[in-house]
Amino acid sequence: MAVWNLGSINADMVYTVPHLPGPGETLAALELNRFLGGKGANMSVAAARAAAHVRHIGAVGRDGTWAVERLMEYGVDTRHITVSEEQTGHAIIAVEPGGENQILIYPGANRVLDMDRLNAALSEADAGDTLVLQNETNLQKEAVQLARRLGMRVAYAAAPFEVDAVNAVLPSLDLLFLNAVEAEQLRVETGMSPEGLPVPEVIVTSGGEGAWYFDTKTGQSKHFPAHKVTAVDTTGAGDTFTGYVLAGLDRGLPMAQSIAQAMRAAAIMVTRHGTADVIPDLKDVQDAALA
Ligand code: RIB
Ligand code: NA
Repeated sequence: MAVWNLGSINADMVYTVPHLPGPGETLAALELNRFLGGKGANMSVAAARAAAHVRHIGAVGRDGTWAVERLMEYGVDTRHITVSEEQTGHAIIAVEPGGENQILIYPGANRVLDMDRLNAALSEADAGDTLVLQNETNLQKEAVQLARRLGMRVAYAAAPFEVDAVNAVLPSLDLLFLNAVEAEQLRVETGMSPEGLPVPEVIVTSGGEGAWYFDTKTGQSKHFPAHKVTAVDTTGAGDTFTGYVLAGLDRGLPMAQSIAQAMRAAAIMVTRHGTADVIPDLKDVQDAALA
């Protein structure tokens, strides 16, 4: 089994700031660090750290070989990442002392993926493999339709939120990930609450309040409380959660166990500065003493 990820790859420029800047404000950062990031890359690294076989489909520019090398180092299959004429996507991220962030992305190469390459990549997928997508690339709709025909499990994280993008893929999903803000946006735009969505399984995360799992077919739901940690940087915690859930399922763990493990991984992640480079591995996640 494998997790296929049609996903973004960004250079994350992380600025540590005394507070998040307001409109018109000029603010000096206290520190600057570069990490591998992008919601796609973060999910791929998380799933690989959680011991799944992960194949990433995406693109970087000529300035992005370091990102591909790093994905490879972290155990991600990068054969379907192409080098385009666009520049590598990047994110300008401000993080304040409480861990809250503000993110500006330049999609670059992430938005110019081509259909032939997508077809070629997924022609290697097996029925029962998972496809995961987020909203930082192009070709989401094409990919979910193709994955459906191939008998793959299709999972989507509606981030960054855009109602048209969600609606385009909604009927073809097996599993949808939303954070609480996205769930509320979706409710406002469509009138549908998570348990009423036309997707068999929905997971809503809400930071310190934990996560909710909804089986929309049976109407059952389950709450998973969050571990109590001191947050220094919440960036990438949601992506880590998603990657861990999918890796657990792909490795044959039940949903509840996959979510419980993902909650632990996300809790550790918010105590660390940075994105893909600092995602904990399965051993860290199992051994961590968490309240
Ligand atoms: O979810 C966090 C990610 O969002 C960052 O790594 C950044 O690249 C943006 O895609
Ligand atoms: Na972090």
